[in-house]
Amino acid sequence: MLPSDVLRPQAAGSQAGAGASQEPSGLYTFSQQVDSWVVRTAKPVSYEIRFTDDVLNPARTDLLEAGANGVSTRAGVRRFVVVDANVDLLHGDRIRAYFDHHGVDHHMCVVPADESVKSFDTAARIVEEIDSFGIARRHEPVIVIGGGVLMDIVGLVSSLYRRGTPFVRVPTTLIGLVDAGVGAKTGVNFNGHKNRLGTYFPADLTLLDRCFLNTLDRRHISNGLAEILKIALIKDEGLFQILERHGALLLEEKFQGLSSTGELAGAETLRRAIHGMLEELQPNLWEAKLERVVDYGHTFSPTVEMRALPELLHGEAVCVDMALTTVLAQHRGMVSETDRGRVLATMRALELPSWNDLLTGEILADALQDTVRHRDGQQRLPLPVGIGRATFVNDVTAQELADAVADLRSLQHERAGR
Ligand SMILES: NC(=O)c1ccc[n+]([C@@H]2O[C@H](COP(=O)([O-])OP(=O)(O)OC[C@H]3O[C@@H](n4cnc5c(N)ncnc54)[C@H](O)[C@@H]3O)[C@@H](O)[C@H]2O)c1
Repeated sequence: MLPSDVLRPQAAGSQAGAGASQEPSGLYTFSQQVDSWVVRTAKPVSYEIRFTDDVLNPARTDLLEAGANGVSTRAGVRRFVVVDANVDLLHGDRIRAYFDHHGVDHHMCVVPADESVKSFDTAARIVEEIDSFGIARRHEPVIVIGGGVLMDIVGLVSSLYRRGTPFVRVPTTLIGLVDAGVGAKTGVNFNGHKNRLGTYFPADLTLLDRCFLNTLDRRHISNGLAEILKIALIKDEGLFQILERHGALLLEEKFQGLSSTGELAGAETLRRAIHGMLEELQPNLWEAKLERVVDYGHTFSPTVEMRALPELLHGEAVCVDMALTTVLAQHRGMVSETDRGRVLATMRALELPSWNDLLTGEILADALQDTVRHRDGQQRLPLPVGIGRATFVNDVTAQELADAVADLRSLQHERAGR
């Protein structure tokens, strides 16, 4: 039996939800004509993110058990595996050896992945390959091994393929580990706009193996550290202190734990960054609430990033935004001069930019206007309060931005001069 508020017939001429006391007692009634039904349902969502060092070690079975509904060990196991082309070059042999060891009939779909091919065409090509291989969607989840770009594309493919096919993510970049791999969003760029087509469709399981970061170039480690710094600045002062003290070491060691300090600091940094991110995402998974502290650094950066392409990576553009808004917050008396200095020094230690010549009044005004459109008519601009807390404001003016830009520029020049 359906509860009456789940499938509710509406009498002709009545407004949805109105006149509940007069509603017909059954679905079919001759006394009142029914010509509208309201169907309400809720879909529980549950997904897991699990640290799994050395996920390709043949002794580990996490990658096969996920999403398989218990059908991972019997003969005839099949998997469609999408791999970033660079990851294939560096780790492809181990990936193939892993599936061979477990007797898995697998197809490796190797995709060159960078922002320029994050397109619907790439998604369509992957679908064609899935069709040729053929998968049983209820116990043969798609596996994606790659960075944020590939995970976003394959997430979109999985959400569309047969109206939803489970998938498993193995992020291989730092942005992937702490950001793109933990949320529910999928997407591709379209019509010149970033992530214009996308869905909310989390992977059943994300396996986090920081060993992959060993082959990632230094600049992409910095890029990921920018998103970690964001979490630190808006909600985790302890995380900031770790970055302030050990950030340079983490960058140097690429989170591989080459020293005991690096091991402790690296593990703690990843855990705190992911936990902090999930604390913010979970209560607002579908982003119904537009005030999101995780949008910090993402007010001016989308415009700056797109205009600077290919000069700035995403995290780098976010860092420039955070530098500007730190100065802006300092002008408002929300961040002390000392803390402003600590934030900018930490950005430098992480080898992240805190300035870009695109920071002009005109570009910032455009960027703010675009963000206001996306945030339903209000700025909803997260600003730091000290280090580790944030608030939202709606009244940033062009003059205030110009003052912050001028100040940030002179701070850069002062440093360059020294
Ligand atoms: N869905 C989300 O919630 C979310 C969140 C943040 C970012 N993103 C998206 O993520 C993308 C950025 O992700 P990214 O920074 O991982 O970029 P990316 O996927 O382009 O990877 C960066 C580069 O590193 C290479 N690479 C990947 N793993 C490697 C490894 N282990 N060793 C050597 N090279 C490797 C890739 O081939 C690529 O050239 C953007 O498109 C962004 O929109 C999505």
